[in-house]
Amino acid sequence: MKHFLAVSDLSSEEVQDLLDLAVRLKKEYFKKGNRPLFKGKVLGMIFQKPSLRTRVSFDMAMRHMGGDALYLSPNEIGLGKRESIADVARVMSGYVHALMARVFDHAHVLELARWSSIPVINGLSDYNHPCQAMADALTIQERFGRVKGLNVAYVGDANNVAVSLFHVSVKLGWNFTIANPEGYDMNPKAVEIGKKIAAETGSKVAFLRDPHEAVRGAHVIYTDTWTSMGQEEEAAKREAVFPPYQVNAQLVSEADKDVIVMHCLPAHRNHELTDEVADGPHSVIFPQAHNRLHAQKAILARLFGVA
Ligand code: CP
Ligand code: NVA
Repeated sequence: MKHFLAVSDLSSEEVQDLLDLAVRLKKEYFKKGNRPLFKGKVLGMIFQKPSLRTRVSFDMAMRHMGGDALYLSPNEIGLGKRESIADVARVMSGYVHALMARVFDHAHVLELARWSSIPVINGLSDYNHPCQAMADALTIQERFGRVKGLNVAYVGDANNVAVSLFHVSVKLGWNFTIANPEGYDMNPKAVEIGKKIAAETGSKVAFLRDPHEAVRGAHVIYTDTWTSMGQEEEAAKREAVFPPYQVNAQLVSEADKDVIVMHCLPAHRNHELTDEVADGPHSVIFPQAHNRLHAQKAILARLFGVA
């Protein structure tokens, strides 16, 4: 693994290996603290968009394991504006040991990886959010064990988070169903990639309009914001279209009785997810957020080649 840009770049075995390592590092962390496996290593973190979880969990992952992290805000770097992406990548490669980048345009993180001699991690783009998906898979596996055939249902906007959830689900042999409104379909390339993986692993996939049909028999219901970062000018239009896709107590009651409800956060409470559900017995949104830390330690460890 040279970079971590998309779940679909990994084999099913590599995905499972990362999860196993995350489980091990999480156990170790809570037992006696992690060993300083990242001693002397610095992660450069380039952000073109705001972040709570990604920024703090990567920073803490580095610190827990004896390394350090450097936050670079949109104002400082001006990726592709003040300086070309190729030049930023080559300069940073001489200063830090890995780069994490949160970008608007997915092509920009690919460009960083192309020119970096150090590992590049995708911390969210307009196309996908693979670090989130690893934490999501860890959370699902913790609840249900290492089993195939789980039913994962995503309800709402078929966005970057949905793409990575789709790909990690089918890599692990889980069935994936998505219900989204017309006009807000998943990136066709991501659909094609995911269907191909599903054909190899035996996962069933379904692309629906009806959220009620999507959650029938679901072990996982997942939702995310209706308006992602960079789409702010569409917010009013989206607020008018998406309400039938709200994850509320009624929708949850139509799923498997042991269903877990997930959200990558930040949540827009009482829009895509009601307070009642977010703070109710099926919700795992906070353990899910906490798992970013452990999943990312595993990603970093594999990229540094230290665990
Ligand atoms: N889920 C997630 O990536 O959160 P942040 O945008 O706060 O990093
Ligand atoms: N889909 C959201 C995820 C935020 C973590 C966005 O891109 O804004």
